[in-house]
Amino acid sequence: MRTLWRNARLVTLAGDRGWGLIERGALAADGERIAWVGADEDLPRELDVQSEHDLDGALVTPGLIDCHTHLVYGGSRAAEFELRLQGASYEDIARAGGGIVSTVAATRAASDRQLFDAARARALALMAEGVTTLEVKSGYGLDEANEARTLAVARRLGRELALTVTTTYLAAHALPPEFAGRSDAYIDAVIDWLPRLHAQGLVDAVDAFCERIGFTPAQTRRLFDAARALGLPVKLHAEQLSDQGGALLAAEFNALSCDHLEYLSEAGVAALARAGTVAVLLPGAFYFLRETKLPPVAALRDAGVPIAIATDHNPGSSPTLSPLLMLNMACTLFRLTPEEALRGMTVNGARALGLRDRGRLVVGQRADLVVWDLEHPRELAYWFGRNPCTRVIVGRAAGAQ
Ligand code: NIG
Ligand code: FE
Repeated sequence: MRTLWRNARLVTLAGDRGWGLIERGALAADGERIAWVGADEDLPRELDVQSEHDLDGALVTPGLIDCHTHLVYGGSRAAEFELRLQGASYEDIARAGGGIVSTVAATRAASDRQLFDAARARALALMAEGVTTLEVKSGYGLDEANEARTLAVARRLGRELALTVTTTYLAAHALPPEFAGRSDAYIDAVIDWLPRLHAQGLVDAVDAFCERIGFTPAQTRRLFDAARALGLPVKLHAEQLSDQGGALLAAEFNALSCDHLEYLSEAGVAALARAGTVAVLLPGAFYFLRETKLPPVAALRDAGVPIAIATDHNPGSSPTLSPLLMLNMACTLFRLTPEEALRGMTVNGARALGLRDRGRLVVGQRADLVVWDLEHPRELAYWFGRNPCTRVIVGRAAGAQ
């Protein structure tokens, strides 16, 4: 089934820099893949087309890729937000038994149906702003059954909604109450559950929270060894609140990405560059926790580390459902250019998930497209609190409904 879109302003992001803008562009999809892209006037006559659409000069980008979310959970943490406004820090609250662990209690108490309905509503909000690929982490179950349950909800989102969902096993997110004072034993358990969850098809990658209030580099290493033994790629929540040397460790394991990175050292930047690991920056968490230490953007850029941007949607540090606001904040708070921000949520977001088939509008990539009521792609990072997305098109395999 060939579908042709004509009269579009295509933001292809072809090549390593620039917007790759094609004024009066045309794009043809064959099943779920892009079969032809170029200037409307160069369209080959012999192109066999079943349906044709005139986009009336609208701007078209690749589908957005939100490569870091914690979308499946019960409850909210609005009361904790109030405590933080009164002066308590995120770490204080976590140490006092709140924080992630309070969301674990709410998640365990929620039914499958409640977890799915809440996650579905969140996914639909992200899709309304152009997301076509979404990573979802576990990490609010923290026992085998509840980690499996939350990962299964993520898989179901991918089956039932028009988007790709990848899953990441983040049981090493916090210490559950039943393991209080026994963090090494908890890591043993996390390592024990992993092969079974993987065998059920629930795990695409493995992540950990390497932090003073999370797990040590030595514990993270044990988990990464277990991931490697199963052939699973790793990612890491690293250097968010302090420099634990997590990026060095992640690079040693050729991690797909290292995420947060406010406290990343020079040696950490060099290690990411050598390993080709993506730096995923999360301006929503930086903003919402009122952090002041900026990630070393200039050093990452100079070293050629690919930078991705994501929502980090979660109830504690980034309760946002606006990928576009993250593009804006990546520029205002982290000083990315609008082009770097968009590449961060397309080309480099794909790379942070190990996906090579999306992120640009070039032949052979997935035909995941977003149509915007905008004049120029820089406006994606310019407006905030406005949604100019008019249509999301997700490539469908030939024969699919
Ligand atoms: O990415 N830093 C650890 N994990 C999340 C926050 C989780 C939570 O507070 O519930 C993050 O910021
Ligand atoms: Fe996170």
